[in-house]
Amino acid sequence: MNNPLNSSIDSIIFELNFSDVPVNTVKVLSNDNLSIIVANLNNEFYAVENVCSHQKVPLNSTQIVNDEEIECQKHGARFNLKTGKQVCLPAVKPIKAYCVKTVQDKVLICEKS
Ligand code: FES
Repeated sequence: MNNPLNSSIDSIIFELNFSDVPVNTVKVLSNDNLSIIVANLNNEFYAVENVCSHQKVPLNSTQIVNDEEIECQKHGARFNLKTGKQVCLPAVKPIKAYCVKTVQDKVLICEKS
């Protein structure tokens, strides 16, 4: 039988438990190559890159604003956590949004295909 955790395992970049990101909070996950922000918005999980598109610095925000946005700590640009789309200046480009799958009690962050 196919184990969903093992299907498309190559595209999984982070794996965590539901309980690692409580409802309506965000968590920064990093490895040697990548830093992302995972958000739990009313028990739906989303992930975006942890790099502001304005000056390529880490967003490093730990707070959700306006229900589904994250704010850069340097100049205040905001991005939608569901899509990565920029919401206000000075950012004029989106940030990358990742595919998120939930399987059993796991949250799998994947590359979008
Ligand atoms: S570096 Fe993020 S808003 Fe300027």
